[in-house]
Amino acid sequence: PTTVLTDPFGRVIDYVRVSVTDRCDLRCTYCMSERQTFLPRAELLTIEELDRLCSTFVDLGTRRLRLTGGEPLLRKGFLDLVSGLSRHLRSGQLQELTLTTNGTQLYTHADALVRYGVTRINVSIDSLDPDTYRRITRGGDLGAVLQGLEAARAAGLKIKINTVALKDDNADALPDMIAWAHARNMEMTLIETMPLGQIEADRTDQFLPLSMVRTDLEGRWTLTPQARQTGGPARYVTVQETGGTLGFITPLTHSFCETCNRVRVTCTGTLFLCLGQDDHADLRALLRDHPEDDAPIREAIRNAIARKPGSHDFTLPIRGALPAVQRPMSMTGG
Ligand code: GTP
Ligand code: 5AD
Ligand code: SF4
Repeated sequence: PTTVLTDPFGRVIDYVRVSVTDRCDLRCTYCMSERQTFLPRAELLTIEELDRLCSTFVDLGTRRLRLTGGEPLLRKGFLDLVSGLSRHLRSGQLQELTLTTNGTQLYTHADALVRYGVTRINVSIDSLDPDTYRRITRGGDLGAVLQGLEAARAAGLKIKINTVALKDDNADALPDMIAWAHARNMEMTLIETMPLGQIEADRTDQFLPLSMVRTDLEGRWTLTPQARQTGGPARYVTVQETGGTLGFITPLTHSFCETCNRVRVTCTGTLFLCLGQDDHADLRALLRDHPEDDAPIREAIRNAIARKPGSHDFTLPIRGALPAVQRPMSMTGG
């Protein structure tokens, strides 16, 4: 496309993450409160509105689109959305259409995703021990997720495992998890827990700085930094001993915002300019007030990106303090 969206810091914004539902069938302890309620259906963008909004971003130069949630595969009509959006892959305007999923529904959907042009997915797994997995997710069935992964591999999807580093729950298991992923030809990315939304636990009890994890891994393996610059937050290394790729997403211990290429849209059509900051624009009202005319939506997107902040507001967790950002991850999309 000839259009590009550029922010005040000269960063080209060509990657959009869209949350298609706030619902999830898991309730990971670092992500959601046990009592979290979900939005009424009327608040959500319809599948048609999601298509229209994603397509407007594509018109404005978006080259990569990632669908998130909540759990995207739980959204009714999700495959219709993917199928519809795949026209932008065929036209060459979109380079990549992908999703971030918890994997519980992958077993049934992997083949269809490949049919509609998805080539790789990110799957969140924070433990390979069924009991620990059940505790972290408050009831999740690891076996079902592993079956889904096998189905996805068999369907030919490239897979990246996302693992949030948690002091009490998986700190000691991380090397084994990395070796497990690499042995199956999957990439692995470790993520620091971010203070988003209210949860029961104190985030200081969960937070594990990846700087520490990296030092520990360097005592065990040779990590060679990769040149690959995705514009995303992850910094990638090759683990020489496994031959696999390992990413580090370190919002709290190492800033990556200078190369940010992205914005996100919530399941209610609010455009957030940064995961860790509150400035936003309501696109749903425009979608509904202008059913025939995309110009006001394009204008609102341009205006919003013209004030994208330089970096997020996250700080290291402080015991007892409120999170810097109140809205939950499942609403914003990871
Ligand atoms: P690819 O590079 O396309 O694989 O994507 P990714 O690693 O950015 O995507 P993924 O959905 O796997 O993101 C993993 C997690 O990284 C997200 O769920 C967030 O927790 C975190 N993350 C992604 N983008 C940002 C960002 O812009 N800022 C911050 N602070 N965290 C981010
Ligand atoms: N901090 C970091 N990552 C989080 N995720 C959910 N909540 C948080 C948080 N507070 C992760 C999930 C998944 C991705 C979508 O976001 O584990 O990998
Ligand atoms: Fe669901 Fe993902 Fe949140 Fe876990 S982290 S509760 S899988 S949205």
